[in-house]
Amino acid sequence: MIKDEIKNLLAESAGEIGFDIPEFSVEIPKNRECGDYASNIAMVLVCQTTKNTPMEIAEELVSKIKYGSISDTFKKIEIVSPGFINFFLSKDYLKEEIRNVLKEKESYGSSDKGKGKTMLIDYSGVNIAKPFGIGHLRSTIIGQAIYNLHKFLGYNVIGDNHIGDWGTQFGKLIYAIKNWGYKKKVSEYSVKSLVELYVKFHEEAEEDPDLEREARNWFKKLEEGDAEARKIWKECVKISLKEFDRIYKFLGVKIDLTLGESFYEKMLPGVIEEAIKKGIAANSEGAVIIPFPDDVLPPLLIQKSDGATLYSTRDLATIKYRIKRFKPSKIIYEVGAEQSLYFKQLFWASELFGWGKREDYVHVAHGLMRLKTGKMSTRRGEIIFLEDVLAEATKKAEKIIEEKNPNLKDVEKTAKAIGIGAVKYNGLSGHPTGDIVFDWSKALNLQGNSGPYLQYAYARARNILKKDRRRADVGKKNFENEMEIRLAKKIQEFPFVVEKAAYSYSPNLICSYLFELSKEFNSFYESVPVLKSEGDIAGLRLALIKATSQVIKNGLGLLGISVLENM
Ligand code: ARG
Repeated sequence: MIKDEIKNLLAESAGEIGFDIPEFSVEIPKNRECGDYASNIAMVLVCQTTKNTPMEIAEELVSKIKYGSISDTFKKIEIVSPGFINFFLSKDYLKEEIRNVLKEKESYGSSDKGKGKTMLIDYSGVNIAKPFGIGHLRSTIIGQAIYNLHKFLGYNVIGDNHIGDWGTQFGKLIYAIKNWGYKKKVSEYSVKSLVELYVKFHEEAEEDPDLEREARNWFKKLEEGDAEARKIWKECVKISLKEFDRIYKFLGVKIDLTLGESFYEKMLPGVIEEAIKKGIAANSEGAVIIPFPDDVLPPLLIQKSDGATLYSTRDLATIKYRIKRFKPSKIIYEVGAEQSLYFKQLFWASELFGWGKREDYVHVAHGLMRLKTGKMSTRRGEIIFLEDVLAEATKKAEKIIEEKNPNLKDVEKTAKAIGIGAVKYNGLSGHPTGDIVFDWSKALNLQGNSGPYLQYAYARARNILKKDRRRADVGKKNFENEMEIRLAKKIQEFPFVVEKAAYSYSPNLICSYLFELSKEFNSFYESVPVLKSEGDIAGLRLALIKATSQVIKNGLGLLGISVLENM
């Protein structure tokens, strides 16, 4: 990739001058006047010398670059205050890159940089007997995009859906089913009715605190393997998984593993014992906690005074298991921001256990998703079921199609792709940590930064190529027009953006990139004649259009959004 080429050139020069090679960046400047790529290396190197200013260092670095070897790639290299080195790509290079897109097709933007490394991605993490809410939707789609991005870069990736299928809440649920259940067989309940029973438990427990004790007893029975408790629990898991599978299928998401919290049950006493043996756990009024050096974080509770284990105990066991089975170089958790403190504790505790460094664990924390009219939460009474949201999205997309393209065939399939694309893109396009406000008109806006806008740009490009059957061929002719160059430059940014999005766990960078690319493409097509152009120049312009459609397809594919040939 061009970024690596630039990095190598600069590192080579720095070495030749006698510097130690530092960590430095090569970025795409926001302002086009500052070149196509720019590096801060001179500003970093200034720490290694007292004699020169960054400007002087930059001059020296550039003077050492063997220009002969790279004159095909760069039109010029410029130094600007306070010491940035700016690289401007040549037309030849841009043409070559368009050729590469057409040659590499689906794999354009991919690499094998992650080869030999395993990334474990923990995402979705839905809870049994609770709705598949909008919060878990964000975890699911952002997690899946992070998964796809790493796979594209050659990593060995493992997706694990750590479903919440264990814990004291099941004691509550079993109690509720046994005492207020109205169906003969547990298997006849729906997730909605299980949620209702769960909510009822909380209402009743406010009046009668004894219920909490009853629930604890039921969970204890469950843990001890009581046949009735196990049977009810198993049915609840089955009911929920069936519903979740339907939603995953609808979303087009497939997660490699679904081990879930219950899977680790047998390992829990061992983990607590290990913590005590290693001297990292302490006793606190009968409970077991893991305190942190200098109390930088509140201690992590791993066993309650009544002997019950917790979410944290199961997560520790999960880490131990994952390290042994997969030897991941990183474990990435895509979970809501409300668990930020918890994950800090968990990662630090793992380090205390001797399970690698806490930097080997990443919490990609997503913010809340709210409705424009208020909060979207699963708290009592305001539960929003994801299925309803997706159905609504599809219905709205159908209406748009009816208005814009009444003759379209396959309306149902198209509406589904647009609707799901809109919901997914909306959940992905903001920075993961930020809250997002879900607004239907924005999510489905064909003019703005939305999933459908990108799908539309793709369909538009494909239609041009279907109408104009001449060869899309970069050929010998050079770019003649500023718009062509701008579009080509945008296209070649893709591999750079893919890498950045993966390394920073920010699929939103792919969204903003695709939006810019689509805008660039639309302005290109509005101002540059294609169908009316001739010969080589027509071939070159068609090649640009074909490359654009390929990159939109690759990018949307990474986001888990399907493209449409017509819409
Ligand atoms: N089930 C959890 C929740 O809904 C998320 C699980 C996240 N993964 C984990 N290893 N803790 O909050």
